[in-house]
Amino acid sequence: MEDYQARQDLLEAVQGMVASGLVTGTSGNVSLRLDDQRVLITPTGYPYDKLGPDDLPVIDMEGDQVEGELPPSSERRTHLAVFQARPEAQVVMHTHSVYVSVCAVAGLEIPPIIDELVIRVGGGVPLAEYVFPGTWELGEAAIAALGERRAVLLRNHGLLVIGRDAREALEIAQLVERLAQVFVHARLLGNVTELTPDVVRRELDMFRGQA
Ligand code: 13P
Repeated sequence: MEDYQARQDLLEAVQGMVASGLVTGTSGNVSLRLDDQRVLITPTGYPYDKLGPDDLPVIDMEGDQVEGELPPSSERRTHLAVFQARPEAQVVMHTHSVYVSVCAVAGLEIPPIIDELVIRVGGGVPLAEYVFPGTWELGEAAIAALGERRAVLLRNHGLLVIGRDAREALEIAQLVERLAQVFVHARLLGNVTELTPDVVRRELDMFRGQA
């Protein structure tokens, strides 16, 4: 992909993340794999409404900045660990949406409760153990919990999503926040009915069969 198109795609995902209320202020971050050596990533602590395509810094696979004026996200090591472990990942999105955070603080995974969650994410949403933000180890904890899935709750922190493109990462982050709302409310009503193992198995076949 041309770098120009990649910058546009990443910015659209950032704007969608903000418009959907998945982050507030300067929280959250998004990155896109440009090639084997380079990753485009949001700058640290920079207001999203001022962010243009040329403001996005580029880092190498060690996390060192190779292009751009603004310093890269403090979470770059976590993103890079995920890119290294998951070759299909083109985009990594990290959000702090409210119901996702409720689950991450309460220590609750989101079980397989709605069909589209299994088909798009690859099952329920697991919970990674707590690790200090911005570290390679946080990425490793996320990878360990992820398995083959495309979303993972970060304990006492937020959500991390893998997308095969920027649109998919945004859609999954939106989906998981909605499902977290459904799960929390159903739990408060006192009854969470999970999909049966047979349904989950069939839907996982659909997940794995996606082009
Ligand atoms: P950055 O502004 O450094 O990307 O950090 C924001 C954040 O959400 C950390 O979890």
